[in-house]
Amino acid sequence: MDIFEVVKRRRSVRKFAPRKIEREKILQILETARIAPSSSNRQAWHFVVIDDKSIVEQIPKQVAMGDKFIVKWLRDAPMIIAGCYTKAMTHYIAQLFDHENHLVDISIAMTHICLAATALGIGSCFIGWFHHKKLKKLLGIPNRYNIAVLLALGYPADESTEQGIGGIASGPRKKLEEIVSYNRFGKEF
Ligand SMILES: Cc1cc2nc3c(=O)[nH]c(=O)nc-3n(C[C@H](O)[C@H](O)[C@H](O)COP(=O)(O)O)c2cc1C
Repeated sequence: MDIFEVVKRRRSVRKFAPRKIEREKILQILETARIAPSSSNRQAWHFVVIDDKSIVEQIPKQVAMGDKFIVKWLRDAPMIIAGCYTKAMTHYIAQLFDHENHLVDISIAMTHICLAATALGIGSCFIGWFHHKKLKKLLGIPNRYNIAVLLALGYPADESTEQGIGGIASGPRKKLEEIVSYNRFGKEF
């Protein structure tokens, strides 16, 4: 698969096969986060790989407002990666100019992970709907770090097709004209 195909086939996979992700594949995926770009090359991130079933099962209990839908499928995720960030001096300076570069950095790295997984036939789904403080405690994350997002990962329960990984159809997307401007915001491309 080339990069365009990988991006096209990625879907949020929420139904996983009871199959472990091979260690060499986990390392291959993590390597793409390690070499991701970051503002001033600060790499102010940390990735907690959770594959211990007893911890994975605790995570849905930290889901915000006990959202039943997430609780149900997340329990069966073979692996979850918590994308954590801290702030380097350059991030504080950027904030003086209203830039949230620390969040951009970790988002890029997590996107690398998600797309690398797709390329290896592994499904994933981002989760941003959790109690941050409770989860930090559960995972023993130091105070200076925060969790930006979780990514559940696993082989899809259903077969992948041309349509997408795990045979999942794409959700509706806005038209290009609605989200792209030419030179100035609102000017048609
Ligand atoms: C930052 C972020 C947070 C998300 N949080 C959740 C979540 O808490 N629960 C969930 O089921 N999906 C979550 N998603 C997945 C989105 O719902 C999904 O990406 C979107 O509906 C588009 O579908 P697709 O990923 O299959 O293309 C999240 C996605 C992102 C990028």
